[in-house]
Amino acid sequence: MYITNQWYLVCLIDELKEKNPLPKKILGQELVVFRGKSGKINVIENRCCHRNVLLSLGNVEGENIKCAYHGWEYAGTGKCVSIPSLESDSQIPAVCVKHYPTQEVDHMVWAFIGDAELAASVALPPIPEMKDRPYVFNYHVLEADLKLVAESLIDPYHIDHVHVNSISTFMGNLNRSTVDFNIEMDGKSLVGTYYRKNLSSFFEKFYFGFEPEIKTNFEFHFPHTSKLQINFPGKKRVLYIYEHFYPIEGNKIVMLQITLWDNIFAGFDAFARYFMLKKSNKIVEEDVAFLESNLYNHTTQRLNDMLIKSDKVSIEFAKLWRANTQQYSHATMAEAADSK
Ligand code: FES
Ligand SMILES: [Fe+2]
Repeated sequence: MYITNQWYLVCLIDELKEKNPLPKKILGQELVVFRGKSGKINVIENRCCHRNVLLSLGNVEGENIKCAYHGWEYAGTGKCVSIPSLESDSQIPAVCVKHYPTQEVDHMVWAFIGDAELAASVALPPIPEMKDRPYVFNYHVLEADLKLVAESLIDPYHIDHVHVNSISTFMGNLNRSTVDFNIEMDGKSLVGTYYRKNLSSFFEKFYFGFEPEIKTNFEFHFPHTSKLQINFPGKKRVLYIYEHFYPIEGNKIVMLQITLWDNIFAGFDAFARYFMLKKSNKIVEEDVAFLESNLYNHTTQRLNDMLIKSDKVSIEFAKLWRANTQQYSHATMAEAADSK
């Protein structure tokens, strides 16, 4: 399923190298990102009109991107502006490739996929921490159901099982008898909070704090961004994990995970980045096995989830997803009961 008329996070500015255009594929569309000499970032279709080869094989020249095959140049608007082999009595044909509305915000480059006229009316998901915090990021590609991927970070119960070797000790365990997820929803987003029992080792507690419970915030912003925020207020330390996901093509999905932190390993920046990247990779690897094994991906049968009362987050998420996609969402016993 391709969800268009949305801003997608095309790349982080760290990925853009001077002179080198960056190819990306989102929702089946070939894009190329490049930064002109003035610093302006452009996202256009990754195709040369001349012979339909990839523009990303070329170079950035001034404000333009130059095709490596015969040297045709395109402006950031996608318009062809120079053809080296043009005869003196000919004019540059009025051709252009598709241009995508683009925004550079806090180290991130966003492109609007869909009807460009709607771009101004659609908001970016809030990622305020990118303004001024250290971060690491990594990309993973997996074959999975988009809805399941979208829900995976905010699913509170899987952490105790799937992430035993990465963050579950550090994040603690859900205290099942007292779970209230404090879910709030508006038409496009779902946010909530819950507490996890602090099961850290003595050394972890010494560093992160001895609070008996660890407050965790979660967010989902339709259709492509989720967040987990783990708070250690005693020591003023916070960990933020964002996931941004979209189909490249079919059910091949990119998951971009961005991890940020406050006051963790401060003064040891290189180590902090190394540590966070290692953890982040581990977390995604742990999820991927389950997301790829999901049977929606492997069968044409319509399979229903069997959600129960405690799957409150999943149930609310499913409502939000269904309301926004207007498509069949796997019905659940709990939802059915809920709607009576
Ligand atoms: S294919 Fe691009 S210039 Fe010829
Ligand atoms: Fe997970």
